[in-house]
Amino acid sequence: MSKINIAVLVSGGGTNLQALIDHIENGYIDGKIEVVISSKEDAYALKRAKKHGIEGIYIGKNNYYSLKERNLKILEILEEKQIDLIVLAGYMSILDEKLVKRYKNRIMNIHPSLIPSFCGKGFYGKKVHQAVIDYGVKLTGATVHFVDEGTDTGPVILQKSVDVKDDDTVEDLAKRVLAIEHEILPMAVKLFAEGKLKVTGRKVRIGGF
Ligand code: GRF
Repeated sequence: MSKINIAVLVSGGGTNLQALIDHIENGYIDGKIEVVISSKEDAYALKRAKKHGIEGIYIGKNNYYSLKERNLKILEILEEKQIDLIVLAGYMSILDEKLVKRYKNRIMNIHPSLIPSFCGKGFYGKKVHQAVIDYGVKLTGATVHFVDEGTDTGPVILQKSVDVKDDDTVEDLAKRVLAIEHEILPMAVKLFAEGKLKVTGRKVRIGGF
C-alpha cells in the first residue's frame, strides 16, 4: 500500500495530534498528515502542526458562519488533498451526514472512555471523567472508533482500560486515560494505513487480509 494521506481535525491542545506526528516521524505509521483543520482559531494544536511543517487551517464560526458552510469547506479541502483517512483528535464540532457518508469507515474518533459507557451527547472532556468517578466504576479507558451518523456510536476499532483508583481526581484520571489514548490512536491509524482493518457491520476485524 502506498502512504496514506491523513487529515487531523482538532479543537484543543492537540496532544493526540502530537502522538500521531511523532509516530509518523519515527516511522511507526506509514502515512502523511496533509492538513490539520481546527474549529478553534487559537487551538494549540495549530501551533504543533506549524512546528512540524504541516498546513493548519482554521474553519470555525468566525470565518464560516453556518455549520453547512463549514462542512462544505472541510469537504472541499479533503477532496483537494485526496485524504484517505480523517482523524478526529479532540474535535469539538459536528461533521454533517453528507461528509460522514462520503467518508464511511474512513473517519476515526478517539473517545476518553470505554464505549458504550460514558459516551454520547454531553459526554466530552472532563465531564466524561467526572461521570466515571461519580458512578463509581472500577475501570475506564479509551476507545478509537469509526465515526457514523450518531454520537460515539460507530464500530469500535481499539480499546484499552485503566483502573479507577479510590482517590482519583478528574485530573488524575484524565492524565492516565490520555496516556493510553496516545498509544491506541497511533496504533489504529497504523493498522488502517496497512490495510489491516476490515469492517463488517458493527465489527472491526484486525488482521493481515
Ligand atoms: C482527548 O481526551 C480525546 O479523547 C477527546 O478530546 C481530548 C483531546 O485532547 N476527544 P488533545 O487535544 O488531543 O490533547
